[in-house]
Amino acid sequence: MFLAPRLFIDQVRRSEAETLVAIHGEAFARPWSADDFTALVADRSVYALALRRESLFGNRRMQGFVLVRAAADEAEILTIAVAPSAQGKGYGRRLMEDIMRRLYADGVRSLFLEVDGANAPAVRLYRSLGFETVGERKGYYHRADGSTGTALVMRVQLR
Ligand SMILES: CC(C)(COP(=O)(O)OP(=O)(O)OC[C@H]1O[C@@H](n2cnc3c(N)ncnc32)[C@H](O)[C@@H]1OP(=O)(O)O)[C@@H](O)C(=O)NCCC(=O)NCCS
Repeated sequence: MFLAPRLFIDQVRRSEAETLVAIHGEAFARPWSADDFTALVADRSVYALALRRESLFGNRRMQGFVLVRAAADEAEILTIAVAPSAQGKGYGRRLMEDIMRRLYADGVRSLFLEVDGANAPAVRLYRSLGFETVGERKGYYHRADGSTGTALVMRVQLR
């Protein structure tokens, strides 16, 4: 019999900056520092949610997280990352749906994000959640091979 692992979404704790560094560093080419994450998690305008998977022994291990900054009735995704070994299992979608529900409940009207137009999995996820492209910044991303990429600014109306 196959038992699906139990998943939980809850707050990132202040002591977890190193875990965020590790997951983010695996998921992105440009790592952020523990100091960056410590400051963001402590910031009262930032929502920091973790998705955790429970092992057979009951340990919950973070597999991904999302950070969002809210100001008045607008919010912006600062980053979302799922550990590469856990990608493609629906965890990114779960995190996005959860944060969108929380923002809606807190009265936020518009949620923005910026994404590399060449990041097909992320763009597809955002479109399927109702995000639309509202701006483009050509040549915004500089890749290690010298090429550049277009940043898409996307928005979803929550209410
Ligand atoms: C983008 C990211 C957060 C998505 O999380 P994930 O857990 O891998 O994605 P999910 O399994 O929840 O898939 C959600 C949707 O993303 C899209 N998607 C996921 N993997 C994909 C792939 N390899 N190719 C195309 N689309 C893909 C699909 O639309 C999928 O929905 P579907 O399964 O209903 O078709 C994750 O891949 C990641 O951390 N990537 C590296 C960091 C990054 O790019 N972050 C976003 C920067 S703005």
